[in-house]
Amino acid sequence: MEALAEELLGESPAIRAVREQLRKLLEAQRAGRRLPALLLQGETGTGKGMVARLVHRLGPRRGGPLVDVNCPAIPETLLEAELFGYERGAFTDARHAKPGLFQTAHRGTLFLDEIGLLPPSVQAKLLTVLEDRAVRRLGATKPEAVDVGIISATNMDLREAVRTQQFREDLYHRLAVITLELPPLRDRGRDVLLLAERFLARACAEYALAPLRLDEVVQARLLAYRWPGNIRELANVIERATLLSDGGVITGVMLEPLAADGPSVVSAPSPRTGAVKPEGRCASRSRECWRRAPGTFRTPRPGWALRATRCMRGWRSTACTAIALSSAAAVDRRPFRPRLPGARRSSGNTAG
Ligand SMILES: Nc1ncnc2c1ncn2[C@@H]1O[C@H](COP(=O)(O)OP(=O)(O)OP(=O)(O)O)[C@@H](O)[C@H]1O
Ligand SMILES: [Mg+2]
Repeated sequence: MEALAEELLGESPAIRAVREQLRKLLEAQRAGRRLPALLLQGETGTGKGMVARLVHRLGPRRGGPLVDVNCPAIPETLLEAELFGYERGAFTDARHAKPGLFQTAHRGTLFLDEIGLLPPSVQAKLLTVLEDRAVRRLGATKPEAVDVGIISATNMDLREAVRTQQFREDLYHRLAVITLELPPLRDRGRDVLLLAERFLARACAEYALAPLRLDEVVQARLLAYRWPGNIRELANVIERATLLSDGGVITGVMLEPLAADGPSVVSAPSPRTGAVKPEGRCASRSRECWRRAPGTFRTPRPGWALRATRCMRGWRSTACTAIALSSAAAVDRRPFRPRLPGARRSSGNTAG
């Protein structure tokens, strides 16, 4: 169970409670009990996908496949055939029989991501499959047994969706035998700093940079910001700041895009309590901040243009505006390609 503490990093009561629930669930599975259906709820970027993979990897089904289905990514007309499979001739284009994702996940785990967006027609059939533990392919006469652990995830309030009749109540109860709420980052206190340190170390290793640290003002800003994109946003912010750093330490100015759209006034942490003044507006994703804050960096330092361009990746013209460059020619306009250790430079367009 060390993997739980290692991967679900954090000391806040909210994340400790999640770890504890997961620990009990996984121990019950070890004792030979059947995996109950698990519903992961939480805002975008809180780690639902990560927890689903962790449960599969640490649970008794780890020897089987993990099949990840992003429900809204499959067109409604294809979803039923994709999930449950079909027989030859079941519809015009069905030239061969094909097993569905349920059959593919046999003896493993099926992860139904964004389950709240499952169309009503498929909700009914999914319920039947879960109740019968058997799938009948489109066009088939007989069902075939499937043994699949179900993990589903949503960033919607599924109970509210049930109340407004967008989601079937019977299916909700089937899927939510155990419900885990992943807390938003803004409710996790100093976990923000623990996670930021981890992302910083990872970014330094990936970009082959010397170890960096976060200065006090940066720490205060990270603590005060509201993180609408949660852990995903934090990882991106830290990666960008790493690329902007000139060595040794990440300073407040490297988080300028965050401040442009986040907390308007942030105090340094109180030396006595460590508290910061959390004040601020909710921000959109960090890339948006670059876009909407032209002139944030009025005095670019040598090297910033290139680094900002790298970190914006495909967003070069936006990066130019944000940095208010005096000479756009200073920006490397070649596509960003991170240089891999040992990789040879290809001619012309390796920006790393
Ligand atoms: N506890 C954690 N420690 C380190 N990284 C994490 C943690 N939780 C999430 N992440 C990272 O944050 C990012 C977002 O996580 P994930 O994709 O699991 O979120 P999600 O809740 O599924 O988001 P969405 O609702 O948008 O699909 C991923 O890159 C993931 O690796
Ligand atoms: Mg996800």
